[in-house]
Amino acid sequence: MSMFSRKFCCSESFSSISILFLKSFKCFLLSSSQRHCVRTVTLPVSAHNTKLAAKCKSKHQRQVCKSVLQHFDAQYSEELGEQWQSARDVLLNPHLWQYGVLLNRFSDLTNLQQGLTALGYTSLLPQVHPESQSHRAHVPLQCFIHRDPVRLPNQGHHPGWLKQYYLLNAASLLPVLSLDVREGEKVLDLCAAPGGKSLAILQTATPGLLHCNEVNEHRHSWLLKTLESYVPPTLRHLLSVTHLDGRSIGSTQPGVYDKVLVDTPCSNDRSWLYTPDIHQGEMWLKEKAQLPFLQKELLCSALAAVRPGGLVVYSTCTMSLAENQSVVEAVLASYQGVELLDLEHKLIDSLSDNFNYANLHPSVGQLVIPQKGKTWGPMYVSRLKRIY
Ligand SMILES: C[S@@+](CC[C@H](N)C(=O)[O-])C[C@H]1O[C@@H](n2cnc3c(N)ncnc32)[C@H](O)[C@@H]1O
Repeated sequence: MSMFSRKFCCSESFSSISILFLKSFKCFLLSSSQRHCVRTVTLPVSAHNTKLAAKCKSKHQRQVCKSVLQHFDAQYSEELGEQWQSARDVLLNPHLWQYGVLLNRFSDLTNLQQGLTALGYTSLLPQVHPESQSHRAHVPLQCFIHRDPVRLPNQGHHPGWLKQYYLLNAASLLPVLSLDVREGEKVLDLCAAPGGKSLAILQTATPGLLHCNEVNEHRHSWLLKTLESYVPPTLRHLLSVTHLDGRSIGSTQPGVYDKVLVDTPCSNDRSWLYTPDIHQGEMWLKEKAQLPFLQKELLCSALAAVRPGGLVVYSTCTMSLAENQSVVEAVLASYQGVELLDLEHKLIDSLSDNFNYANLHPSVGQLVIPQKGKTWGPMYVSRLKRIY
């Protein structure tokens, strides 16, 4: 294996695809950047990316935590039935995981889209014809996906330069698209770090205000850095970044926002399976029982912060019934003046070639569960409207 492939290939079994792919990507960056953006030339060979590749490799070599797996087997075979087996196959095999490429409309994207297409990437969403775009209430979000588990290198943080893309699990876009932010709206991202969904919101529209909040100090700094890397200085006055407990925002800012995203802390199924040691795994399983209480409080705070007629989107990256449907049902039962909205059929249908939706009983929200070839998720999304 060449030095090049050792640096960038996270998947041994897909090494030939990755080598070819990343070589092409390097060529592409060279040709586009020679003309337009010198910064990108250095990306594939930087020390930073070598470190990232090493981190990526160690992640894929990490052991599955047996007690977490046993817990998932018991819980999810009961809650998801046969659907758990295909999700389990993907979660236990990080070599199969796909990575979405969310383009940053504020950066210089000259040739990038063409280059991705040449490398076999396709658009996650149907492409909008430029002529029909001027009549639309929001900007079409551009995310590219690949059927193979290849991964572009992350771009480094360079003050004064805007990154061109953000790598993410494409299912993370479902909550953002369900929020359907319009130009000029006041939006709150209650649990925002590291900032992937805040960024995605800014790719869909220019809100009048985007309030990004994060309680954890370290993650709050990470959030600030993300925003600095992707948002141009001319738009930063639209952002308000706070470091608060999201449970207090509903009472301090009642009825202020048109839209609120509650992407809650949850038992992240992908990372919990790879818990570094058994004690940590057992500690997390104990914490898991407490999460629904925090999630309900955060959702109630979001409902208080949104104006009557406004929308709240609740999301998690777990398949757990207790953290998904049960939270939403409990809040609907106790909170006056709120109704459950289905996710737009048009949106769900437009993503059904790529996302594997679970059959939920009861059917409260949508759950994307990973499946071979469609490894996106887990991601649960529910939409609530405040009526009064
Ligand atoms: C699932 S992550 C959010 C991911 C983020 N939305 C993104 O797309 O990049 C949940 C975040 O909620 C934060 N959090 C936990 N408790 C919170 C609270 N009480 N108030 C606000 N944020 C909280 C966690 O520190 C974590 O960063």
